[in-house]
Amino acid sequence: MDKEIEKYILFMQERFALDMSIFDESFLERTITWRMQITSCESMNKYLSYLEKEADEPQLLTDQLRNSHSEFFRNPLTFAFLEQSVIPKIFSEAVKNQVSEVRIWSAGCASGQEAFSLAMLFDDYTISRSVNVGFRIFATDLSVKAIDLAKSGLFDFKSVKNTSLELAQKYFHRRGENYLVDQKIKERIDFSLYDLLEMGSSSPPSSIYGDFDLILCCNVLFYYQPEYQQMILQKFFRSLKPGGFLITGEAETNIVSSFGAFRAHAEPAAIFVKK
Ligand SMILES: C[S@@+](CC[C@H](N)C(=O)[O-])C[C@H]1O[C@@H](n2cnc3c(N)ncnc32)[C@H](O)[C@@H]1O
Repeated sequence: MDKEIEKYILFMQERFALDMSIFDESFLERTITWRMQITSCESMNKYLSYLEKEADEPQLLTDQLRNSHSEFFRNPLTFAFLEQSVIPKIFSEAVKNQVSEVRIWSAGCASGQEAFSLAMLFDDYTISRSVNVGFRIFATDLSVKAIDLAKSGLFDFKSVKNTSLELAQKYFHRRGENYLVDQKIKERIDFSLYDLLEMGSSSPPSSIYGDFDLILCCNVLFYYQPEYQQMILQKFFRSLKPGGFLITGEAETNIVSSFGAFRAHAEPAAIFVKK
């Protein structure tokens, strides 16, 4: 590991008990460089001194490492495949096996944009096809702030702009400049705090048992070193039903492929099936 980066890891560990060694090194470098630009520090050493002196900066660096950016229907290709291929398959299996409720996990859900997008698609599908199977979404993140925002269900235009007019008219209510998610959609989702690197369980305690038909974990894996990516994927493998679907960010496709326990379902979308 780069000597400069090691100094940061040591500093944050000793002063704030934050283990930065779990993060992917190039992601760490990019994040530090970003904070260096904002704080007008010209070198890694200067920024380290700044980090030591400025009381707010360690938190700002940590927030940047825990980036919670998200949007409704963030990746159009993924959501198109979900609507046309994954959701119909999940419900046809549920009907065939006489399952009363489909179970979904949005892991690293940020402020809930992904979970709400899923709930809208699932609700629309069951109503338009008169499907008599329920669904429940468990949505988890380690950020208290993000989960609190998710529970409010209130979003600005930038977050919701990819939502189709049809779904927006069905599932949002205008509140001044903002958009409030319909109560019926909110009730489908159980938001809770859960650290994906917590190794005492394979699925969030709120779900009681895993047995998920679908897990979405988008734009989370690439933050971590390979050994931590593997730990998270192990967790998903254990908590998915046989034949269950795993969806990640497109930039994370190689991480899942090299894990070996999932096969690609719909290339080039990052959609996989448990082998
Ligand atoms: C960039 S956001 C992605 C949000 C959403 N999945 C999406 O693609 O739009 C990454 C989220 O993962 C969460 N996260 C990162 N590491 C995590 C962990 N170990 N356990 C739970 N959540 C984590 C962060 O708090 C953040 O909200």
